[in-house]
Amino acid sequence: MQIRTALNFFLAPLLAAGLLTGASAATAAGDPEAGKAQALVCAACHGQDGASGIDPTYPNLAGQNEAYLLKQLRMIQTGERQILLMAGQLIGKTEQNLRDLAAYYASLPGKLGEAAGDDDSIRLAQGIYRGGIYEKGVAACSACHAPNGQGNAPAGFPVLSGQPKEYTIAQLTAYREGERKSDESFGGMMRGVAGGLTDKEIAALADYLQGLH
Ligand code: HEC
Ligand code: HEC
Repeated sequence: MQIRTALNFFLAPLLAAGLLTGASAATAAGDPEAGKAQALVCAACHGQDGASGIDPTYPNLAGQNEAYLLKQLRMIQTGERQILLMAGQLIGKTEQNLRDLAAYYASLPGKLGEAAGDDDSIRLAQGIYRGGIYEKGVAACSACHAPNGQGNAPAGFPVLSGQPKEYTIAQLTAYREGERKSDESFGGMMRGVAGGLTDKEIAALADYLQGLH
């Protein structure tokens, strides 16, 4: 194993822990009630409950942490994270509007699905989720996204559990190919992690995450 890979494996979670204090300062309270009124148009794609997207490539927003949601909304608005379907949705929204939307979706109960893979697939995913892949420098997902997939709210690390498999596959692939760069302020950590994953590993992880709790 290369030294750099070993460093990446051990340092990524430490680096993440070090970011906690800085990230929490960016968290500001929004008003869920004001967000609810604005979310009517969002429901057309993300569902009335924020967790029943009309297509499995659309993410659940319900129960996602506020800091992560706010950050993504800001990046989607500026085009730093490019989502064609959402391009027109955030035009003209103020910073307070985005905060209210983030607070609203964070206040809704999350929804859990079920893993559908066979034993081999679940074992593969669980091994990576809990222990990473040492030889490839892939850090354990649980270090940042928590053993139960609930993420880390103060740090703004997203909840993964319950996300539809197709959405997660698309995101991990996009990070791996360098197409999603919204982790820039986190030092590109998700691109680093996903860079070591094969299609098979990504599919197994995405399936496993649907039911992780
Ligand atoms: C026309 C359909 C559509 C509408 C309307 C829409 N979205 Fe989305 N949204 C998407 C799709 C598709 C994605 C994921 C795209 C991707 O990255 O693959 C997404 C992603 C997101 C994400 C990122 C979630 C994550 O886990 O990273 C947030 C936050 C979000 N939408 C919030 C909203 C809000 C708030 C509104 C209303 C103001 C809204 N969306 C309206 C289709 C839509
Ligand atoms: C060192 C910390 C860290 C590790 C380890 C890590 N992640 Fe992440 N993950 C993050 C951060 C931070 C983000 C948000 C980045 C952004 O804004 O794009 C994220 C985002 C994601 C997303 C996108 C969520 C969404 O709603 O769009 C997925 C999927 C994901 N991670 C899966 C994984 C998997 C699977 C593993 C293990 C193979 C893993 N992560 C390991 C920190 C980490």
